[in-house]
Amino acid sequence: MVEVANARTKGLALFRKDMESLEGEFSYGETAYHLPVCYALTGKRVSNADSAREVYRETGESVFVAGECTVAASVAAKGGFPPPFTGFIGDAVIRKLGYSLVDGSIAGLALVTGTPAVPDHVVAICRELQEKLMLTFLSGDVVPALVDAGVKVGVEFRLVPLGPGPIHAVHLTDLLARVAMMFGGVAPGDADRLVRYANDRTKVFAAVFPGLSDREVAYIDALRSLGVSLVAVGDYEGDGWVPAEPSRAVATGMAERGISVAVTAIPIPMHCSPAFEGKSIRKEEMYVEFGGGRSPAFELLVMRDEGQVVDGKVTLIGPDVDQLQEGSAVPLGIIVEVAGKQMRKEYEPVLERRIHNFINYGEGSWHVAQRDLIWVRLSKEAVKNGVKIRDLGVLLAAKFRMDFPTIIDAVQVTLITDRERVLAGKQKAELVYAERDSRIAGMKDSDVDTFYSCTLCQTFAPNHVCIITPERPALCGAISWLDGKVAHEISPAGANQPVPKGSAIDDLRGEFEGVNSFVRKASHGEVARCCLYSIMESPMTCCGCFECIALVVPEANGVLVVNREYQGETPVGMTFSTLAGTIGGGAQTPGFIGISKNFILSERFIQADGGISRLVWLPSLLKEELRDRLREALAARGLPDLYEKIADETRATTLEELVAFLASVDHPALTMPPLL
Ligand code: SF4
Ligand code: NI
Repeated sequence: MVEVANARTKGLALFRKDMESLEGEFSYGETAYHLPVCYALTGKRVSNADSAREVYRETGESVFVAGECTVAASVAAKGGFPPPFTGFIGDAVIRKLGYSLVDGSIAGLALVTGTPAVPDHVVAICRELQEKLMLTFLSGDVVPALVDAGVKVGVEFRLVPLGPGPIHAVHLTDLLARVAMMFGGVAPGDADRLVRYANDRTKVFAAVFPGLSDREVAYIDALRSLGVSLVAVGDYEGDGWVPAEPSRAVATGMAERGISVAVTAIPIPMHCSPAFEGKSIRKEEMYVEFGGGRSPAFELLVMRDEGQVVDGKVTLIGPDVDQLQEGSAVPLGIIVEVAGKQMRKEYEPVLERRIHNFINYGEGSWHVAQRDLIWVRLSKEAVKNGVKIRDLGVLLAAKFRMDFPTIIDAVQVTLITDRERVLAGKQKAELVYAERDSRIAGMKDSDVDTFYSCTLCQTFAPNHVCIITPERPALCGAISWLDGKVAHEISPAGANQPVPKGSAIDDLRGEFEGVNSFVRKASHGEVARCCLYSIMESPMTCCGCFECIALVVPEANGVLVVNREYQGETPVGMTFSTLAGTIGGGAQTPGFIGISKNFILSERFIQADGGISRLVWLPSLLKEELRDRLREALAARGLPDLYEKIADETRATTLEELVAFLASVDHPALTMPPLL
């Protein structure tokens, strides 16, 4: 039996020695927060042994500082970790996780560490964590135990292998510190607020197997001060360490930290959980694929009258996997028919988009795109375990019923693999898509008197409010005006509320009385005004999960936009991560807005400041992604040659190059009225 108090005393003394003999320079890439724990606690940027010791003293010999600095120094000395270990996790990954942390698809965070005596125990614990919607971090020998048992690890499986030793749990702490600064508006150096934020907002527990050194015990024990519940799956005895059998570890940890999740098993031979949503199935791993340009495929969700839908009925027309050749591309039609008293025709496209999520929940099924562009794969492993194409129907029927109980009373699913039938069904589906598009295409903000709010991100950014309009989709890219409307109708007390526009204070700026008063209230008085179409004057606040940042470049008299995926520096000399670190947390920052990719195409995009003619720079991949739609939008606005005049990193990586390029192509921004 390990006495935690004894081990802790010894561990703290060892850390003190480590800090005395610490040497060299160390820093992390892909973050705007330096060594995040040191920075969050003191506001100081640690980059070498001397600055580390200074912060260590200033924090009263904080074990968090010692852990962070010693790990950073040893990584700097030895180089990074071999796969599968992630080591330090960059800011972009955390921002990308932001949305799932607030929309409930991640219920909480777990740390699993130590050396399991029986590897199967850690396998079972991690499977359960995946099924219970937890995001799990792993450090120490639990990682090889999982890998040897064939469990896939990685951020995309929500099992994040931080490092080979238990002490690499430091990367969970630096993540918590950054969540507080990125999303929570906790100022670097405000240690009290950091601790309060971690206790109040993040739900974390740790399952600790045996084998921790004294240092590691001291470090893990300190996590309690951040609100992390500790479950001893090994022989530890200490204050606040709750003992549990391996089979009870997850239930105990979740109960200790107050996390509850209802999961209903779906009767198919494959694990199903949002934990698997981010995975991919590579060509070598796939048994059969559908669509993706290799075979005709489509999906369609339609509403039927009650009585026309037999709940839970799944029909397959055409051959199933046992009659298909391994490695082949096969036609596929997915038709989901739903009925319900509260169901409305306008919900169809919003629900149809969920097919994508649900199929990706399957550990061995994968889905991209929508409508008649879908591309679906089943893995060899899944097929070996007995998964059939029919099971996708069972999965869809079950998930639609589970996730939309208020509007769906009955669901039936028809899957088609017969080529002729798929082609015929696809033709009919295309008529439905076209009809839907014509209904919402070209909807303008001026056509509606109600916008929708979203406050999901208040979990992390307590004063942030998104206002979503037909022409301004949410900054996270996840919610359109129609989504907001449907979400509100489905769940009237939820995070999406109607916002009556009220009278216009200024149409050009997009300032409305109703929006201002809503924002004032929902931001708890922090934000008095919100101009929807301006980057300069009272722009919308950002939380942290924006797809892109738009910012004013005074030298170019214009605006550049950079997306989260772009890793390089922008011409202003900062990366997306660095820029993102300077905004967010629910604050308004004139000159900066967080936006979705699609907002760039909108006629309302910074309309008050001159609109799209101000756009001087985009990363080339984003420019390429938007190419056809952007060209079309520009042509429609009488700017057919602007696309070629927008610089990217192949044209300009510095301000000088940018300005020179803009001059050489006669970019309109240069002759527009001064922005500042
Ligand atoms: Fe967060 Fe806004 Fe997206 Fe809602 S719409 S999830 S508040 S970023
Ligand atoms: Ni957010």
